[in-house]
Amino acid sequence: MAEILVTENIVGKAMDQLRSQFDVLFEPLAWQDVEQLKSGIADVQAIIVRNQTSVTAELIAAATNLKIIGRAGAGLDNVDVEAATEAGVVVTYAPRENSLSVAELTIGLMLSLARNIPAAVADTRQGGWNRGQFTGSELAGKTLGIVGIGRIGAMVAERAQAFGMTLLAHDDYVDSNAPHLQVLNLELTSLELLLAQADFVACHVPLSEETRGLFSRDQFQQMKPTAFFVNTSRGEVVDEAALIEALDSEELAGAALDVRSNEPPTAGSLEQMENVILTPHIAAFTEEAQERVVAAVCQDVAAVLQGQQAQNAFNFSRPVQQD
Ligand code: MLT
Repeated sequence: MAEILVTENIVGKAMDQLRSQFDVLFEPLAWQDVEQLKSGIADVQAIIVRNQTSVTAELIAAATNLKIIGRAGAGLDNVDVEAATEAGVVVTYAPRENSLSVAELTIGLMLSLARNIPAAVADTRQGGWNRGQFTGSELAGKTLGIVGIGRIGAMVAERAQAFGMTLLAHDDYVDSNAPHLQVLNLELTSLELLLAQADFVACHVPLSEETRGLFSRDQFQQMKPTAFFVNTSRGEVVDEAALIEALDSEELAGAALDVRSNEPPTAGSLEQMENVILTPHIAAFTEEAQERVVAAVCQDVAAVLQGQQAQNAFNFSRPVQQD
């Protein structure tokens, strides 16, 4: 009988090591089928997921031997942590292991928007040599507004400073005296002021009931018509219909989205817009980040199954003693 169920494509050296120690059922498409998930999870002691598996209270209730849920990533919005805690199940994740990769993609998308890189590549591949058509702008001297100045937001800020950008940051949950803000010499501002002044707005908030739909009609209307919007956090933070409207009516110059409100999305207006860059939730997908993420989660899963402490446990710091 399998001890660990893996429901998404989570691979690497640490996973190979885990598979050599434990009986691992590797079902990378299981996340698509709730019934398969329920029967797969019934007897296992651990489940390892990425962001596509909904680890609901119902699923946790079906897993009577479950000791640990490993989330190979930073966001816990697809895991019912409360239900896991009530059931005495440890939830572990990788809170910092992919932050740098996400921050680097944000900078990459800002450069792509500013310099029209994807459109210029596509045109040149088709035989074009239209230099003037792709005249862009520099990041230096522009204002970047970072919404959500946690670990990833701070890494974006540090890199943007190296480009000579002026920074504004807004975060409802970070204290204005937080050490990382002092290091960056950054003061928090209201969301309204940030939106009104920024040339680029980068979103780095986690998904919660407070942040769902945070960027809607009002917020896009407050932004400059020359501004660019970048989202590498969670798609549900953005009201996509409002974003499309803002882009259509030229209230916003462009957007780059790595995340969507439905993943995978159904192709629609955003896919057709020339001033929109879309990537398939790849911010955390670098060799380096994935190696760190998979290692962190596999180590914690192995530890808990061996009766030890999970280093990155979100709820319990120690494995719960089972009677
Ligand atoms: C994360 O939450 O760490 C990222 O969105 C990456 C992922 O879910 O795979």
